[in-house]
Amino acid sequence: MTGFGDAADAAARLHDAGYLPDDAIATVVFLADRLGKPVLVEGPAGVGKTELAKAVAAAQGAELVRLQCYEGLDEAKALYEWDYRKQLLRIQADTTRAWEETHDDIFGPAYLLARPLLRAITAPGPTVLLIDEVDKVDFEFEALLLELLSDFQVTIPELATVTATTRPFVVLTSNATRELSEALKRRCLYLSLDFPGEQRERDIVATRVPEAGAALTASLVRVVRSLRGLELRKPPSIAETLDWARTLVALGVDDVDEGVLRSTIGVLLKHRSDVDRAVAHLAAAVP
Ligand SMILES: Nc1ncnc2c1ncn2[C@@H]1O[C@H](COP(=O)(O)OP(=O)(O)OP(=O)(O)O)[C@@H](O)[C@H]1O
Ligand SMILES: [Mg+2]
Repeated sequence: MTGFGDAADAAARLHDAGYLPDDAIATVVFLADRLGKPVLVEGPAGVGKTELAKAVAAAQGAELVRLQCYEGLDEAKALYEWDYRKQLLRIQADTTRAWEETHDDIFGPAYLLARPLLRAITAPGPTVLLIDEVDKVDFEFEALLLELLSDFQVTIPELATVTATTRPFVVLTSNATRELSEALKRRCLYLSLDFPGEQRERDIVATRVPEAGAALTASLVRVVRSLRGLELRKPPSIAETLDWARTLVALGVDDVDEGVLRSTIGVLLKHRSDVDRAVAHLAAAVP
């Protein structure tokens, strides 16, 4: 169950996996799969970047291998490292053997700890490699990714060059906290995600929180959208819309009014200044 036939097939299968794509998303996913190119997904927090990779894996029946990026991430944590403890034990146990023999042994596959990038390349079946929040790594690491994404191979000096048997479907996500290199971008198809249109956001709520019902869903989505119009520091994203829908269901609310918004606003807004601004515009937020 791999390979998308066309963009419509990609859309339908993502949908079945619980992810509602628009045309641009479905087209990029189809093309990335067909052309064997990584997708770079950029956009604000909570608009479905990470979830897209998970949905592609589910839609293709593929294994998801995730590399969470952070500042200072290095090869040893991303690619592979030698299991020093095990090597040391082996050396201690091998006192009577020639060093050359021991050396060959302890730099064999049994002593290698494969990290996500190597695992994604060596996985026997279809794989989706999620390189999450790639804008957090430094330039050196970006160079390493570049090499990997060009050749889909990893050279382990003591052992061999490992080449991917089946290329993983690669998704890189970025919050755009910094510009990525042109070289990295060139290797990828670019997908910019933003807040969805009103109907798609309603559909997303209907898929993820069906208990909310159509009427409540319509009104809560309307309120969230009007909050986004307020020039907030951190406008509520899809993640907050879903949290709020669950909150309202838990409270047994069936329509949103000023009082409800006021008492649950902490689910939607996470900055004091945003809350103040929203409260000052309550009349506009709850039409
Ligand atoms: N198109 C969609 N269809 C269904 N659910 C969606 C969609 N987009 C986003 N979601 C839901 O919104 C929530 C946030 O998505 P996700 O975690 O992927 O955001 P993100 O863009 O990776 O955010 P961050 O930058 O904070 O990591 C998830 O619960 C996800 O299921
Ligand atoms: Mg994410």
